[in-house]
This record gives sequence, structure tokens and C-alpha cells, in this order.
Amino acid sequence: NPHFTYRDGVLHADDVSLMDLAAEVGTPFYCYSSAALEANYRAFADAFEGSDTGICYALKANSNLAVIRTLARLGAGADVVSEGEMRRALAGGVPADRIVFSGVGKTRGEMRSALEAGIFQLNVESIPELEALSEVATSIGRTAAIAIRVNPDVDAKTHAKIATGKKENKFGIDIDHARATYARAAELPGIEAVAVAVHIGSQLTSLEPFRDAFERVVELVHALRADGHDIQRLDLGGGLGILYRDEEVSALASYAGMVRSITGNLGCHVTLEPGRALVGNAGVLVSKVIFRKTGVHREFLIVDAAMNDLIRPSLYDAWHTILPVVEPNPDAPRSPIDVVGPVCESGDTFAVQRDLPHLDQEDLVAFLSAGAYGAVMASTYNTRPLVPEVLVSGAKHAVVRRRPTIEEMLAAERVPEWLDP
Ligand code: LLP
Repeated sequence: NPHFTYRDGVLHADDVSLMDLAAEVGTPFYCYSSAALEANYRAFADAFEGSDTGICYALKANSNLAVIRTLARLGAGADVVSEGEMRRALAGGVPADRIVFSGVGKTRGEMRSALEAGIFQLNVESIPELEALSEVATSIGRTAAIAIRVNPDVDAKTHAKIATGKKENKFGIDIDHARATYARAAELPGIEAVAVAVHIGSQLTSLEPFRDAFERVVELVHALRADGHDIQRLDLGGGLGILYRDEEVSALASYAGMVRSITGNLGCHVTLEPGRALVGNAGVLVSKVIFRKTGVHREFLIVDAAMNDLIRPSLYDAWHTILPVVEPNPDAPRSPIDVVGPVCESGDTFAVQRDLPHLDQEDLVAFLSAGAYGAVMASTYNTRPLVPEVLVSGAKHAVVRRRPTIEEMLAAERVPEWLDP
């Protein structure tokens, strides 16, 4: 990764030393590279250059306002899944008419806010949602441009917890029921079904599942048009994977070529919702070793970051490469060690028997590819403050979310007077 490299023996984010940042903001902290975010977005946009495509960044991957702003300045739209994300997208400078609202459980309040804001499209995932949206839209005199998200029943070949396109998943409307659903939509006031949406999962490394799903969607568009529906747009979701370890990730150009060749003849506007592919490798989590501990069977490196700060290893058995911030001597011996956090759960483990050079108290380490689904999935479990986020641009840096104080964490809570002595 050209944005996180050793310079003079110290790991840098572009031109900023992670050791200097650690001294300034304390550990743990997330650090993002503007240049990496921009390069990722441009690569995506360039791959689809010349086709009628909108890139709606899936905010859920990293919704820091500065990250949104960085991408919005380059022309990104947004895929949001809550009113909070919609407000972030707007606050980050994404125009309302480039916002797609996804999700299986939008509340009526969220539907109303989305319609009032004038967003591009709502992706509907059930008949009850369709009916609710029709009521909300008519009650405020608006028409909702919608996609119906279909579930194409394909195996995304990714971790079960992030696969979404099989019949047994809660997402979308079974593709076999799609025509009936569009027919229902056509009867309802306040709804204009202009699009078909699909999203089959995340961290897909091969193109096959995408191809299968998109082919089914194209077939459906033909059938819907024959039924008299004016389908003008496709939303092909996100899901393109990134390199964490040694995966063979399909190239962006192949992905784009596949999308064009499958959908090119439909004359549809195509929305894409990449999340991880734009931000994943643009961020690291920096942490400090608290202790090194020798157990009966193995060695442990106890660091000051924990599962509440980066949950991917605990939740998905995800691999994040760990680099010492001070460049190790290439011939330094490596030995297997478990890298764990301070939280009181055995699941608070970042790596099992990872080969690392010798590290001890006060040493800094960086978890790579932590830009997506890192800070956004953090919690304050064990009353651990959310860790700060720093954005680097060349040699500049800014703390784009500061670490809350413990007083702030306690401030929202109240002990009722009947518990007073
Ligand atoms: N569109 C929809 C409708 C989605 O549900 C998602 C992700 C995306 C787009 C963006 O997918 P991406 O391009 O980032 O793969 N927390 C998990 C990933 C959950 C993904 C959820 N949906 C992880 O850390 O691996």
C-alpha cells in the first residue's frame, strides 16, 4: 500500500509519521489517508468513465464527515441506511439528488425525511414497506422514486455474516416474486418504481456471483418492461472486496467491464454503492502494546485497542495485517504470538499465533486495512471511549473526531432521585 509506508524506519501515513501522531493524539486512534481515499474514488470513477453511472458511496463503511466530504468533493453520491446517515451525507456536502436510501427497516419518519429532502431513490425491500411508503408519500404530497431490491438467490462466496443474496437472508424480495411486487407498486399512489436494485454481499473477491446476480436482474428488467413498467435505472449495490491478506481480488477494470457488458444494452442509468472498496485500505488503527505476557502455552501481546474499537476479527474472523510502527530489522527473528485487547472476553483477539518480530511494552503497532467497518462499528463496551480519527493530507493532519472524555460518556446518564441516599 503506497500510502502507508516506512520512511526513515517509521511507518507513515503519506507524509505524516504515525509515531508523531501517536504522541499527539494518544493511542489507540484511526488514521485515514486523503490521498488513498481520492485514488480509490478516482479509480472507481475512471473504470466507469463514459457510462451513465452514479457512484453512491456506502456511508456505513466509514461515515466520518471528513471522509464523506473528501469523496463528495470528487463527485460521489451516497448510499445511506438511516436518517442519521442521510443527515451525515447532506452535512458532508452530498447533494440530495445523489442519495440512495437502502435498508430493510426504514421507519415512516425516515421515509418522510428522505422524501422531504428530495433524495434520488429509496430502495424498497418488502410489500409492507411499499405500502407504508405510499401512505407517507401521499400524506405529504410527494412521489417516491423507488427501486425494488430483489434477492437473486446467489451464493456470494463470502463470510456467511456478510452474504445477503440467498433466499434465507432477510434482504430484498425474492426474485421470483418481483413481477408481482412491481404490479403492486404500480397500483399504489405516491410511488414510482423506476429501478431494480440488488446487493448480494460484501468482500466478494470473485466476479462470478456478481455476474450471476446481474444477469438475473437484466432478465427481470426485460420481463418488467414487457409487463409495462418503465424501468430506467439499475442499482447494483456494492460488495467488491479488497486485499486483506493474500486474497485474489478481481480487478476494478474487470468488474467494470463485466457490469458494462451485462447491463450495457438496457439503456439504464446504473448506480453503484461501493463502501469497502473506497475506504478499506485508506485507513489504519494504531495501538500501543500495554504488556507482553507469557502464558502456559503461548505468548500474548496485550495492546490498548480492543474488539470494541475494531470488531472485524472477533465477528468475522477477519485478518488484519499488523505492522510494527518502528520498522523491524528484516533479519529480526519472528515468532508466533496472540495479539489481544484488554476487554474481558476471550473473543477480544485480533490475531492468533501471528508471526511478529519481538514487540514489548510501549511499542506501537498498526492494523492495516481498517478504514472500512472499523470506527463505524465501534462501541463503548467496558466504558472505553470511542477512539479518535485523524485524517492526513500530504504532510498535514487533522483530528476529524476527537476522543470523548469519560465525563462526556457519563453525561447522558442520570441516576433517578429515588436512588439517592
Ligand atoms: N449497499 C448495500 C445495500 C449494502 O448492504 C452494503 C453493505 C453496501 C452497499 C456496501 O458494501 P461494500 O462495498 O462495503 O462491500 N461489517 C461487514 C460488512 C457489512 C456490509 C454491509 N452492507 C465487514 O466488516 O466486513
